[in-house]
Amino acid sequence: MTVIFHNRDIISITDFSREEIVHLCEAGKRMYELEKGGKRNSLRDALKYRTLAYMFYEPSTRTRTSFNTAMRELGGRYDGFSGTEGTSVMKNETVRDTVSMMGANHFDVIVMRHPLDGSLQWAADVANIPVINGGDGKNEHPTQALLDVLTLYILNNGKLDGLRVGFGGDLSHGRTVRSLSLALSHFDDITIRWAAEDFLGIPGDLAQLLAARGVTVIRDNTVRDVMTNVDFYYMTRPQLERMPGVTQKDIMAMMQRYRIDPDKIRGFEARVLHPLPVNSEVAEIDYRVYFTPAQAFFAQAEFGIFLRKALLHEMFHQDSYLRYDSRLPDELASGSNRLARAIRGDKQQSMFIDKIHNGTVIDHLAEGTLRAVDAVLGLEHRGYSCTTAVIAEKRNPFIKTNLPELSERDLKQVAIISPEPTVNYIKDGKVQEKFVYLLCRNTNCITRTILEDVPPKFYADGDAIRCRYCRRPYALQTRKVSAEEKQEYLRSLPAGIAPVLYPN
Ligand code: CP
Repeated sequence: MTVIFHNRDIISITDFSREEIVHLCEAGKRMYELEKGGKRNSLRDALKYRTLAYMFYEPSTRTRTSFNTAMRELGGRYDGFSGTEGTSVMKNETVRDTVSMMGANHFDVIVMRHPLDGSLQWAADVANIPVINGGDGKNEHPTQALLDVLTLYILNNGKLDGLRVGFGGDLSHGRTVRSLSLALSHFDDITIRWAAEDFLGIPGDLAQLLAARGVTVIRDNTVRDVMTNVDFYYMTRPQLERMPGVTQKDIMAMMQRYRIDPDKIRGFEARVLHPLPVNSEVAEIDYRVYFTPAQAFFAQAEFGIFLRKALLHEMFHQDSYLRYDSRLPDELASGSNRLARAIRGDKQQSMFIDKIHNGTVIDHLAEGTLRAVDAVLGLEHRGYSCTTAVIAEKRNPFIKTNLPELSERDLKQVAIISPEPTVNYIKDGKVQEKFVYLLCRNTNCITRTILEDVPPKFYADGDAIRCRYCRRPYALQTRKVSAEEKQEYLRSLPAGIAPVLYPN
């Protein structure tokens, strides 16, 4: 298999093959050896005239500064923002427009962190320069996973097959456990053991995915049970910022049994890793552990520089640059979110099109949502007719209006309140188009943020439907869709997300 990183987007660890991960580990190891051999500056002209834009909508110490260090040591430059204060994001500028401005400012690459899942795939779709995911919501942090793998590769003498890794802390709300465990799933005979409260445990979908990829996943009772059986213990910080309603006190109670302290590691040789930062109040790693031979997390942080140097070098060491293209591709304006339904003859005369010769009927709304949908659309305020109705025997209410078509914003607002509405467009008294509108169910997905204007897109993953942006599976709920209609829809979708290789 050919390994190509030149001008490539780095969005998800699942886009990497085993060969690519090993290739980057070897390249990272070479950077490490240069540093240990006193040759830090030997590549100081490699990325001369290259500039990295950092766009951090969320706080960061390591990811941002280590990318900057990597650029500096390779002779490149960097600029950007850390926190949105002082940027036009404060004036409601969208991700689309902000990302596009980085291209217009002649940057060569973007590293971005954003609180919404899928925001980095959207940024990559919009930008015509490569985009590196520095963390999107609780979704992914692929360069953290790669640096974690590089750490394991170097500390375990170049061997990744057969690794036994323990996970602790918060395995549910963070992105590093997801990305690292998926990266490890490329290797043979991997065992993951974990111990944590149910609320902070490995999500079921991840455990299933890992099992399907041949990883042995075992839950233990105590940290010492895990320590007994692993070579490395990967501790993580409870992600309070992603747990609305949970207090620091709640978390401290949940973490009490699972913090790493000298008693829990005594007698074991396992090295303790952590993506950092440690929350000093929760103290998921007791400060006394810092001074023991088990502590390997500061070395791990420095491996972040070697990995990012290797990655940027692979991406850009060839001479070329991309000219800014101010036009956005047409396909970004629309989604693949309309599951077409058959228009049956009897519907042509059905009562719901009565009185609407030209317009729209939104049908199969969820019980009890009619008022909210009516309010959010505000059709009468916009100068359109609006008739709401509930047919006693059907229970599902519908809305009729002379508005000829709903905008993507309208459709999203309806689907947020009442998932999977059926939309009928009527012309000259006949239903011309009928579809179920699909919107990703992940409430933190960028497609659900109205003002970001990201049209929902899906792709086919075998028989499953997945969101293009956060990549979560989408399970159809409506019973109205026939098996044939679903199959037809699946056939209409692209199969997966091909990595973008930008032309020079
Ligand atoms: N590990 C990590 O991503 O650290 P920062 O949040 O400081 O970037």
